[in-house]
Order: sequence, then structure tokens, then C-alpha cells
Amino acid sequence: MSATLNAAVATAPAPAACAEPLAVLGRDVTVPLVTGGEVTYAALDYAASAPALQRVWDDVAAYAPYYGSVHRGAGYLSQLSTDLFEQSRATVAAFLDCRPTDQVVFTRSTTDSLNLLAAALPAGCQVFVFETEHHASLLPWTDAQVTYLDAPRTPDEAVALLERALSDRDPYGPALVCVTGASNVTGELWPVKELAAAAHAHGARIVLDAAQLAPHHPVSVRDLDVDWVAFSGHKLYAPFGSGVLAGRADWLQQADPYLAGGGASRKVSRREDGGVDVEWHTTAARHEAGSPNVIGVHSIASACRALTEAGFENLVAREQHLIAKVRAGLAEVPAVRVLSLFGDDAPRVGVISFVVDGWNSSHFATALSAEYGIGVRDGLFCAHPLVRTLLGSEPQAQGECGAPEAAPGERSLNAIRVSFGAGTPDEHVDRFVGAVRELVADGAKWQYRTEEGRCVPLR
Ligand SMILES: Cc1ncc(COP(=O)(O)O)c(C=O)c1O
Repeated sequence: MSATLNAAVATAPAPAACAEPLAVLGRDVTVPLVTGGEVTYAALDYAASAPALQRVWDDVAAYAPYYGSVHRGAGYLSQLSTDLFEQSRATVAAFLDCRPTDQVVFTRSTTDSLNLLAAALPAGCQVFVFETEHHASLLPWTDAQVTYLDAPRTPDEAVALLERALSDRDPYGPALVCVTGASNVTGELWPVKELAAAAHAHGARIVLDAAQLAPHHPVSVRDLDVDWVAFSGHKLYAPFGSGVLAGRADWLQQADPYLAGGGASRKVSRREDGGVDVEWHTTAARHEAGSPNVIGVHSIASACRALTEAGFENLVAREQHLIAKVRAGLAEVPAVRVLSLFGDDAPRVGVISFVVDGWNSSHFATALSAEYGIGVRDGLFCAHPLVRTLLGSEPQAQGECGAPEAAPGERSLNAIRVSFGAGTPDEHVDRFVGAVRELVADGAKWQYRTEEGRCVPLR
């Protein structure tokens, strides 16, 4: 790696209150370079999965010896685990600033949460969703009448497009708007509060996909006035297999249980005709059948506490400092085009996608990994319509979330995404910007070939 690499980006120092990243697992992991030697791994793919906070890991480790069944054991550890599980619900409700009547349902992920809500829609529900959404928000509404809204080019246009679509709808039927808080492609913040106001003005409800927002910004259900919010533990520094759907209880209480089984049922009895009668819970347990993932849930609550105690004001300030560094660094490389829907001045989180003229994105991302020890993502990021709109490209034959086949050096049909957060040290983004500059100026130092649509180093 060149000696000038780390000094490549000159920016203002991070504000003193947030000069240090939060401690995360993996910060000392070293990875081999194809060119020889090892470097500490620069995890810059937080938007896919963020590393566990050390604090979360410590909390999980402290609890692990006391692990026991939840809601089904008389023993001390079962009681303790049940208490922990239910306390975690309260912690998440506080983290999201929920209304007292809201339910917090523990799921596996954002995808799971949105599929749960989709399964709980009242009959005849209309759904409104922007084409720019992640597939987790775009696709679960298979049983509803869905209106897909075009990609807006400003936040105001987003509100106007929604207003227009909602004013054409049947005003008496149920309706749901699904919108992301922060784009997993551009990192740009969406005007959630304004969209919620528009939805409610037209008698519709709104669910916020906070998968990319909650790890970076405080989310207040009350202030945003959203009806539900969904997020994933593994993007919130708690990668133990749990997610959250929080919000209004009524649709969830009226719906069939998401999964049928123990835990969701209060009373089950044989009928005289030989069948079975079931009384389902009306609490969150209705949609949490089976043995709950208490470790996953505990880890989410731990992350909520850790982020709250670190202070979002500090975390946001530090992240904005990193965003400014990366954007300034990329802006100095003319071959780089950063993808944006709402423009340079849009408020954003630490998620930045870009293409590099003359480079296949898979080739570029692979070289960042193989030659610099930097982990980013390339592809269409499970938001195919949005990335294609931003790239101005046509659909290609490709696997879900995969990269289209293209040889190294060909013009790319997909993009590269760098993403970071509370655990990212300055050195990682400095190394990234320096590596981009060096790759564009000097080319890759190694040879690569395409294997099943991906570039891999020649060995
Ligand atoms: C905006 C957004 N929504 C939903 C999801 C789906 O999250 P998960 O894969 O944890 O279900 C993602 C994942 O990348 C995302 O970025």
C-alpha cells in the first residue's frame, strides 16, 4: 500500500465529543492481501450487516450462562430469561419512542417484519410503495392491490407523488404506505414525517422501513407519527438473528397468527366434532409462535441501550464527519460518479454508492478487498429498480442481489457501495478513499478473472 494512502484525505477533525468510534468486534482482524502481507480488515459494508458492538457481545456473553427457555419454564433460569425477553420489549419500545398502546413484536429481520405486516393487512387493503424501495419493502404485498410510485427526484416530489396517488384511491378502504427512512443505495433520508402526514390526511397508514435509519439516527414513532416501524438487529450492531416490528396493535391483533404454534396460542381444546378450537393471544405473542430467540432479542436491547448512552448527537456528528471525508475524496476522482436521487445537499447516512468509469463494479470491489483489505459491496443492493434508474440501465439476466456477468474492465451495469457507522475509525475511510484514487490512477496491481459472474483474483 502506498505511504501516501492514509494521508490522502484532508478534512476537518471529528468533533471532540465523538472523536472515537464505538468498540466493535473484528476491529483487530487482519486479512491477507494478494500482493503479499496482511492488513487490518476495513469493514465498510455496514449497510449489509454491521459488526457487533463489543458492548453487545459482552452483554450476550454475560447472559449466556443463564440462558433458559422463555415463557415455558418454571425454573429460575427460565424465569430470568422470560423477564429479560419482556424487558427487552420495553427497552425497544423506549428506543423507538413508541406510544403506550403500541406492540413490539420480535421477528427475524426487517424482511420478516414487513412480511408479517403484509400478512396482517385487512381485506381489500391498498398498498402504496415507491419503486425506489429495498425489495424487502417492495415485494411482500402480494395479497394487496399495490400502487408502485415512480422514483421522485426531490423529497417534496416524493410527498407530491404520494398525495396524488392517495387522492385517487378509494377513501373508505384500508390503505398502507411503506417507505424507507434512509435509502440502502444512496443513504439519503426520506421525508418520513411529511409522508406520514400525507398518508394520514388520506386515511392511510404508514410503515417505516428503518433498517438503514435506526442504526444511524434516533427514530421516534411518536414524532414521525408512523404507524409501524421495522428494523433488523444485524444492521444495528446486534447480529444474533432478531428483528423488530413495532406499532399499532389493532391490525396485528385482528390478523391470523403469522406462524401457528405454541406461544401464540392461549388455549387449545378438542371440539366434540373432533376438530380443535384455538384461542390465540392478542398480545405480541400472537405473532411470535415457537421458542423465541432470547439471545437475539437481548442483543437488540443491548444495542439500543449502547447507542442511546453513546448519544445519537455524538454518533451522528462523527458519522457526518466520515461522510464528508468520503464524499470529498470521491469528488476529487473525476472517474467516480456518486449515485444520488435527491442531490448533493440531501441529508444522508453513511451509505454511498458509486460507479467508476471504465471499471466493472465487481472488479473494482474485488480489487479493494484483495489489494487493500477493504470490504465493500457491489451489485444492485436488493433495490434493482432504484439502482437501474440511477444508472440509467436496462434489466439484465442475473441472480437476486447478484452482479450481472461482465468481464473485468468492461463498463459496469451495477454499482459499488461503501457504508459505515458507529464503529468505523477514520483510518478505514481514509484507506478507502486513497485506494479508490490509486486504483483509478494506476489500475489494479493484480490480475482478475470472472467466475460465475464475479471477479476473483487469479491465483
Ligand atoms: C432499507 C432496507 N430495508 C430492508 C432490508 C432487509 O433487511 P434484512 O435483510 O435484515 O431483512 C434491508 C437490507 O439491506 C435494507 O437495506
